[in-house]
Amino acid sequence: MTPQDIDAICGLVYDLCGIALDSSKDYLIESRLAELVKREGCANYVDFAVRARNSSDNLKRDVVNAITTRETLFFRDKSPFEALMFKAIPELVDEKSKSAYDKRIRIWSAACSTGQEPYSIAMTLMETLPDFRNWNISILATDISDDAIDRASRGLYPPLETSRGLESRYLNKYFTPQDGGHRIKDEVRAMVSFEKVNLLQSFVHLGRFDIVFCRNAIIYFNAEDRRRTYLNLANQVTDNGYLFVGSSESLIDLGPKFQPQHHCKSVFYQPNRQLPDFILANKVGPAVTPATPVVR
Ligand SMILES: C[S@@+](CC[C@H](N)C(=O)[O-])C[C@H]1O[C@@H](n2cnc3c(N)ncnc32)[C@H](O)[C@@H]1O
Repeated sequence: MTPQDIDAICGLVYDLCGIALDSSKDYLIESRLAELVKREGCANYVDFAVRARNSSDNLKRDVVNAITTRETLFFRDKSPFEALMFKAIPELVDEKSKSAYDKRIRIWSAACSTGQEPYSIAMTLMETLPDFRNWNISILATDISDDAIDRASRGLYPPLETSRGLESRYLNKYFTPQDGGHRIKDEVRAMVSFEKVNLLQSFVHLGRFDIVFCRNAIIYFNAEDRRRTYLNLANQVTDNGYLFVGSSESLIDLGPKFQPQHHCKSVFYQPNRQLPDFILANKVGPAVTPATPVVR
């Protein structure tokens, strides 16, 4: 690839999905896009980028499907699901049980890839909450890739994928054999709805969630987009909610808005409920316990 080819593709990919590529990724660009370039009969990558930019949504969608890294597995990293089971869900349920009305739990798996993450969350909820049927539980699973969403929505996995991360007791309990693989059972599938969402565009309309998982997607963005997206995600978390990011991701440089919490060898983030510094510094009145969470 020439430098012009690389520039044209990096610009196209950034504009379509915010993934930051550079010349060090020429092998990745070629391995993922060469077939599309050939299919479109383009002489080179610059021509292809121009065609994709001027094309209908179909070619743009093909580029996103080809370029995105969709590596995932059931119960990826294990510890976030333990923190969910032993900390986040019991705390949420405790708190919501105090209210006569609030039997609703809203969860968002942002950048869910082929569905292993939202289904792992659903199975964790079912294992943790024996009376899960008495709760109104909804898990919204989103991704920018139509291919990923289609596969996730089908919930049918080949043996190679069910052999990664999924204990056999979960496979037996929550899946049924089908077409040489396994399909997630209807009761688990019913908790999850799927939608196409680009994390670089506004997602305020999705509302707020008790728990947000957004793992191993924002790492592909540039520093400024990463920062903006984490802050936007943080705004979608309820005052007592939980934000889980990938094991190599951290919100520590985003300031005091979100507090890291360490549980079950995992880190998740919660809105910071400390009194603001200026109140402490001015020593106004006696020490008080903050009644209102200080966030946003
Ligand atoms: C490596 S997978 C992570 C899947 C899962 N969260 C996990 O940790 O196993 C990254 C996912 O991010 C999605 N993605 C990439 N750019 C995105 C964007 N701008 N908006 C939403 N999803 C995006 C990709 O399509 C891919 O499915």
